[in-house]
Amino acid sequence: MASRQHLLLPWTVQEREDPVLEFDHGEGVVFFDRQGRRYLDFLSQLFNCSLGHGNRRVIEAIQQQAARAACVSPQVLTAERAELAGRLAKVAPGDLTRCFFVNSGSEADDQAFILARLYTGRPKIFAKYRSFHGTTLAGLAVAGDPRRAAVEPGIQGAVRFFDPFCYRCDFGLEFPACKIHCLDALERQLQMENPATVAAIVVEPVTGAAGGFPLPDGYLAGLRSLCDRYGILLIADEVITGFGRTGKMFAVEHDGVVPDMLTLAKGLTSGYVPMGAVLVREPIGRHFESKMLPLGSTYAAHPLACAAALACLDEYTPALLEHVRAMSTHLFSRLHRLAERQRLIGDVRGKGLFACLELVVDRATKQPLVPPNTDSPLPLQIRRRAWDEGIHLLARGSLIVLAPPLIVQTKEIDEALERLERVLTWLAAQLH
Ligand SMILES: Cc1ncc(COP(=O)(O)O)c(C=O)c1O
Repeated sequence: MASRQHLLLPWTVQEREDPVLEFDHGEGVVFFDRQGRRYLDFLSQLFNCSLGHGNRRVIEAIQQQAARAACVSPQVLTAERAELAGRLAKVAPGDLTRCFFVNSGSEADDQAFILARLYTGRPKIFAKYRSFHGTTLAGLAVAGDPRRAAVEPGIQGAVRFFDPFCYRCDFGLEFPACKIHCLDALERQLQMENPATVAAIVVEPVTGAAGGFPLPDGYLAGLRSLCDRYGILLIADEVITGFGRTGKMFAVEHDGVVPDMLTLAKGLTSGYVPMGAVLVREPIGRHFESKMLPLGSTYAAHPLACAAALACLDEYTPALLEHVRAMSTHLFSRLHRLAERQRLIGDVRGKGLFACLELVVDRATKQPLVPPNTDSPLPLQIRRRAWDEGIHLLARGSLIVLAPPLIVQTKEIDEALERLERVLTWLAAQLH
């Protein structure tokens, strides 16, 4: 067993982690640890390995690129950079035709906030309470996720608003009878803040680990109109949802909405090489033709990442998206049946191959298993038990999130659900 002695692991109290799962190798939707135990990867590592492990096309593209040109200044052009930016412009909705490359999702969001401030000349960024936009200072400070505690009081100009979270409506209303009241509340909040000081509103079309819920029908279109009314930029954080995760290439396509900026990472290279990107609409791109763009990083548009991303784009075919939608139907029907048997499951929600279970102590009162902003050992225990059962998933607060590689098959979903059921049965027994 390798030692973690000199490592600092992310998002954890170090001593709670022992023993840490030791990854050895992966193939398709499974991976193996050093002891040879097999795990169904129902988190695509961390929402990134969308094409599964060991994709030959991606690996060979990286190998060939490494042999040809690996170290190239971010300030010069390569054929791969130009091609990748062009292909992203083609697959992205509307006129999201200019691409600023970075190295991660955090960096994409962080730089999008700066770009929004530079473009509009306004200081404020609005984000939902239940949101996560990465671990840079600004990413943590803007988003509402409890992880923001690390940087409180945060940065000036970060303003949070209540989510369209229908399972626990902050306004005590029911969708659709509410007529999306939370958007009216947001408009009043913008007016009180002075909309002329607001550069951008950022949302995840499907909130990831900070809540695991899709925006209700009509919300994103309403938000688009609200932004247009006040000259505010709409940033869609598709770090998790981009590249087929929800059954469309980008999740905003479900609503026919074109944001002003789209932040991307994870599935962009299927996690084979780190890369992020900010796609911006044509007028924003044009703005920087004659104005200084004072941002950039050494490894932006790294040749190996460009090669990986180009190979991945070849794999995200209409047929794969169709497959995601079919597997999603199967996954959600199995999860709803599981919820009939497991009383701990308060809500089943998600989109495509992103599925979230919210665990509750009592279905009637919806009392969460782990109240927000509390430090409970339960999520780590759930994750460990899941590893013991041979399934890799996300357990955070009261949420269990599943996001298998897009190539998953029904028999793997069935196998994973059996394992998940054993985890939940174990958990229910612990709580009694
Ligand atoms: C919605 C969202 N935005 C941004 C990020 C940050 O991405 P990264 O971990 O690549 O920095 C994440 C990470 O999980 C995310 O879920």
